[in-house]
Amino acid sequence: MKDGFGREIDYLRVSVTDRCNLRCFYCMPEEGVQTLTHSEILRFEEILRLCKIAAAHGIKKIRLTGGEPLVRRGIEDLVREIKAISGIEKVAITTNGILLAEKLDDLCEAGLDMVNISLDTLDKEKFFKIARREPDGLSKVLAAIDMCVERGLNTKVNVVAMQGINDNEFVALAGLAKDRDISVRFIEYMPVGKNDVGKHIPNDKIREVLEGIYGEMVPDERIYGNGPAVYYKPKGFVGRIGFISAMTNCFCKDCNRVRLTAEGYLKLCLQYNTGVSLRGLIRGGASDEEISKVFADAILQKPREHTFNDYLEKKEIEDKGMSKIGG
Ligand code: GTP
Ligand code: 5AD
Ligand code: SF4
Repeated sequence: MKDGFGREIDYLRVSVTDRCNLRCFYCMPEEGVQTLTHSEILRFEEILRLCKIAAAHGIKKIRLTGGEPLVRRGIEDLVREIKAISGIEKVAITTNGILLAEKLDDLCEAGLDMVNISLDTLDKEKFFKIARREPDGLSKVLAAIDMCVERGLNTKVNVVAMQGINDNEFVALAGLAKDRDISVRFIEYMPVGKNDVGKHIPNDKIREVLEGIYGEMVPDERIYGNGPAVYYKPKGFVGRIGFISAMTNCFCKDCNRVRLTAEGYLKLCLQYNTGVSLRGLIRGGASDEEISKVFADAILQKPREHTFNDYLEKKEIEDKGMSKIGG
């Protein structure tokens, strides 16, 4: 369905848990993370019911996120059941990749269409400094990426670009796509939550650095996802380089998505808390028709755009961190 600004909303991001097996410093505190209780989190049948209602309103793609979605037991069953919903064309997952190798067969068998894997460094020690868990995390993630490639799964690697952290590794990270049919995407850091790592690096700068090594990059017009990334294909590359320039090139006018948090809050924009809690309705015995109406009314309230740039000046910060939103 269309939102109040005429944008077609056909993409729902469902956070299935706020828990994570890592503690990336830009996303979560190292210790003392307050997590939702079992009963606060939507059960699979509740998620499925809401996905069916969303599909009836034109949602075609569902991306499962977290925290880390693969820590939720039975995630492959959820994938299978969402895939079976009439109107749902694609089911994707965004994961940190730690558990992916062991779950990949089940996920593929369940019909998973796409996977996005977060990876910010190719240095083992740095990986641990960033993620603060899983000393062997890097090799697990790299092995998972290669397994996805072997299976021919649509695979993207997400790199959050950070000054003084991984800015000496962009060429090497982009190089992952040289011989692999994957997209490596550079994401401008957004000031969400309370773990500010400083200012983003403009993606144009990263593109210049990459062009200095890999030569001019030709925009790749074909669509490799349904999101805000713009893709380029350096000469001789099997894969692609993508840029998600959330800070320097606001893509909100083409936004196609809303989010459902693990506790059943329909969040209408990454930046704002604007939205509606659907959990109370479900658990209060509301009918599908009632929930459907609340869903449709909420979509019409979707904000026009984020204001992350003003946000930096005002030093206002969203109270929910990325791990509770799912990116
Ligand atoms: P596909 O293009 O379908 O693969 O998905 P995606 O790129 O939207 O998903 P992913 O979970 O990999 O997110 C990549 C980055 O894009 C993360 O940093 C997200 O926070 C960011 N992102 C996703 N959706 C939005 C959005 O609506 N607004 C903004 N500003 N950033 C977003
Ligand atoms: N800004 C941009 N991207 C972020 N991610 C997590 N926090 C931020 C942030 N503040 C990325 C993760 C993951 C995706 C869902 O969002 O690295 O790849
Ligand atoms: Fe976990 Fe992703 Fe947050 Fe890292 S960025 S702590 S992997 S939810």
